[in-house]
Amino acid sequence: MSQEQLVTLGLNVDHVATVRQARDGQEPNLIQATREGIQGGAKGITTHLREDRRHIQDEDVFKLKRAISVPLNLEMSIQEGIVRVACKLKPAKACFVPEKREELTTEGGLDVVREKGRIARAIDQLQTKGVIVSLFVDPVPKQIQAAYDVGTDFIELHTGCYANAKGSKQTQELRRLSKAACLAHSLGLGVNAGHGLNYENVKPIAQLPFMEELNIGHAVVSRAIFVGMKEAVREMCTLIRSACRHGR
Ligand code: PXP
Repeated sequence: MSQEQLVTLGLNVDHVATVRQARDGQEPNLIQATREGIQGGAKGITTHLREDRRHIQDEDVFKLKRAISVPLNLEMSIQEGIVRVACKLKPAKACFVPEKREELTTEGGLDVVREKGRIARAIDQLQTKGVIVSLFVDPVPKQIQAAYDVGTDFIELHTGCYANAKGSKQTQELRRLSKAACLAHSLGLGVNAGHGLNYENVKPIAQLPFMEELNIGHAVVSRAIFVGMKEAVREMCTLIRSACRHGR
């Protein structure tokens, strides 16, 4: 991708479903919130169909795919049952993530080096259905090389350590992410990023080389409580756009 192109927002709507599941009902309406996010400028919608179905449900992903005009990106584990749902759904994109039952959210990147065989098989199953595949990885060269080896189309760089770091530690994390993005690009992989990004820390990530899409959920859904989904997404898109214009 050329440096003039803008980085886009993939809006993660999982936590709209988290609020709904708190009462096991219909409110807030996931489709309506998603449509408002698209009106606000989201160029893609991301959802994580977790093995424990704690927020997004199977019927949500099928309804979402039918209801939206932008690409649906399914975050998922490589577990067989989930891969089966994804093969039936055929989202535009899928991002493989590690998953532990007890975690609050995805806690680290995939260990592609250790799980090469299983990941390669899952990638193949989805690519055969025409799905563009991404692997959620830490900014670690051997993981990126392994991601290339197993045949992924994209990597999504895990920005969690960057988001949690302060001061010079954060600068160090940014440097690691930048090097990782360059390595992935040199191997011919597309580069996305996400996790823990918010209105305060998103700009340097949007300015990383070769960045295409940022997947952001919690911060935007939290802001939406105060200003509405459309406005919360609009504000995030404005930040990303201005970061790209001034820093790439
Ligand atoms: N990208 C991936 C791969 C994720 O697992 C998540 C969390 O579901 C996100 C992005 C979004 O993270 P956050 O909700 O912290 O913005």
